[in-house]
Amino acid sequence: METERITPGTVLGWKGRRRFGALTAYDFPMARLLDEAGVPVLLVGDSLGMVVLGHPDTTHVTMDDMLHHVRAVARARPKALVGGDLPFRSYDTPELAVANARALVVAGADFVKAEGGREILPQLRAIRDAGIELCGHLGMLPQHVLEEGGKYRIKGRDEAGRQRLLDDARALEDLGAFACVLELVAPPVAAEITRACRRMATIGIGSGSDCDGQILVTHDLVGAFPWFTPKFIVPRVRTGADIRTAAAGWLAEVG
Ligand code: KIV
Repeated sequence: METERITPGTVLGWKGRRRFGALTAYDFPMARLLDEAGVPVLLVGDSLGMVVLGHPDTTHVTMDDMLHHVRAVARARPKALVGGDLPFRSYDTPELAVANARALVVAGADFVKAEGGREILPQLRAIRDAGIELCGHLGMLPQHVLEEGGKYRIKGRDEAGRQRLLDDARALEDLGAFACVLELVAPPVAAEITRACRRMATIGIGSGSDCDGQILVTHDLVGAFPWFTPKFIVPRVRTGADIRTAAAGWLAEVG
C-alpha cells in the first residue's frame, strides 16, 4: 500500500507495471472507509445523481450537487487521489469548463473528469491550460444516454467506432490527460487503446480486463443500490439487504 498521497504522476507511473482499482465515493464515511482499504483513486462521480439523489440518469446533476459531495469526500483527507465529475452542461464552452473545473478543485478535487473526445477538445484544452489535472471519459457516455434512446450500449464494435475511440484517446493523451475512463468499450478496443496510449492510464468499466485500472460505482460493488445492478457486476456484499434486515429486526423489537 502507498504511504504518500497519490498523485496523477503516481497513477501514470503504474502504467504497464501494476494494475489498480478506483471506486466512487460521494460522502465522508465512504471516502474514509475506501481510503482505509487502500483504494488509490476515489471519484466523486455524477453517478451520485442516480445512486444517491434518486434521479433516473446523470443529466439532472448540477454543479451545486457536485460541489457539496466533493467537499464531503475531501473532508476525509484521503491519501487517495480525488476526482470530481463535471456534470451535464457544465462544460459547454471553454470559459464555463474552466470556471467549473476550478470550483471543483477549490472544493477539494485533485482532478476533474469530463465526458467526450475531440468534440469537446477546446473545453478540455482550456482546462489543461488552466493547469488542472484532467481525466477523460470515452465509450458509453452516461450524460448522453437520452440521445441514445435511454440505452447503455457497448461502443467500438465496428471499425468506424474503433477508429473514433482510438483517435479520441490519442487526442486526450496529446492534451495531457493523465487518465481516461473507458466505459462499455469493446474489450479488444479498450486493450488496443491501453497499448497505444503510453502517456495516459486507461480505467475501464465494463470494458474487459486489459485496461491499466478498473473503476466501479461503489454502490454496485456493495449492493447498496439493489434496484439496478449493471450486468457486468457481482456485488461483493449486499448492504441493501442487510439494511432492510437490520431495520425490520429492530422494528420487531420496539414495535
Ligand atoms: O459517474 C461515475 O461514477 C463515473 C464512473 C462510473 C466512471 O463516471
